[in-house]
Amino acid sequence: MAVALRALLRPARAPAPARLLLRAPIRLSSAGTQFQYLMVEKKGAKQNVGVIQLNRPKALNALCDGLMNEMNQALDFFEKDPDVGAIVITGSEKAFAAGADIKEMQNRTFQECYGGSFLAHWNRVSLVRKPVIAAVNGYALGGGCELAMMCDIIYAGEKAQFGQPEILLGTIPGAGGTQRLTRTVGKSLAMEMVLTGDRISAQEAKEAGLVSKIYPTEKLLEEAISCGEKIAGNSKLVTAMAKEAVNAAFEMTLTEGNKMEKRLFYATFATDDRKEGMAAFVEKRKANFTDH
Ligand code: CAA
Repeated sequence: MAVALRALLRPARAPAPARLLLRAPIRLSSAGTQFQYLMVEKKGAKQNVGVIQLNRPKALNALCDGLMNEMNQALDFFEKDPDVGAIVITGSEKAFAAGADIKEMQNRTFQECYGGSFLAHWNRVSLVRKPVIAAVNGYALGGGCELAMMCDIIYAGEKAQFGQPEILLGTIPGAGGTQRLTRTVGKSLAMEMVLTGDRISAQEAKEAGLVSKIYPTEKLLEEAISCGEKIAGNSKLVTAMAKEAVNAAFEMTLTEGNKMEKRLFYATFATDDRKEGMAAFVEKRKANFTDH
């Protein structure tokens, strides 16, 4: 049954508590686009967390072109929704995503890859201004690991496995794996993973700083949504500034980054939310942010 995405994502009058199982695949009827590979829903007590669940179980959520196009549409939708303050990307218990779709990629030529800027649009996740949390159960391999690393926070289920096995296919990571993994876990472990294709466990990923928390498999999504709710409860405006400042650490020198941080810090003093946050502290009450 076709259902308009807008209608489905409209906050319910009495929001249900976060559920682990999402609804059937959604069709974006206004744009005539069917969400074939994703399930998309707003979650949390205030319906302020956008959840994107990869839903291609037969291929262990391999990231085919259609799936990534839908992902970008869902991200655009949540980015524009003023009620949404954080986004969670998750997969199934068996696989977050087993990488780029090898069968789809198998016969591509260099000319097609280079000429068509293959994978260039995968970058969208890293350009979202709202915080994005990856909730990783099962395999996060190749492009799946890269997708998780494009997110701002990674939570892992206790049986999650991370890897960049492209070398075993005669290729190398092509969606930021060699760069983001190295910056996150350091050269030795990144080299080992990229050169051997060996996977690391959730525990090893936590020790290496790739993930911030590990939860039991069945609790993971709930905890990621709960983190999203915490973030969404703060000023969305100031949250965007905080995210921009942290991300600058990956792109700039320390001096440049510190300068940028100062400018953004000063900019918070031009917001109503900074005034409200400090007034609320002094008046010993909870801040009521308006995103202004
Ligand atoms: N692409 C396409 N199909 C995939 C896939 C992928 N990346 N990963 C799994 N599948 C498919 C399998 O072909 C299989 O389909 P069929 O039933 O039609 O044969 C189905 O998913 C189930 O997979 P398995 O039978 O292999 O399941 P398993 O439990 O025995 O093994 C696995 C699981 C270890 C994840 C294994 O499937 C695997 O190694 N997958 C490939 C992982 C990989 O190499 N990822 C990197 C891809 S390249 C890349 O991502 C480039 C980049 O940087 C962007």
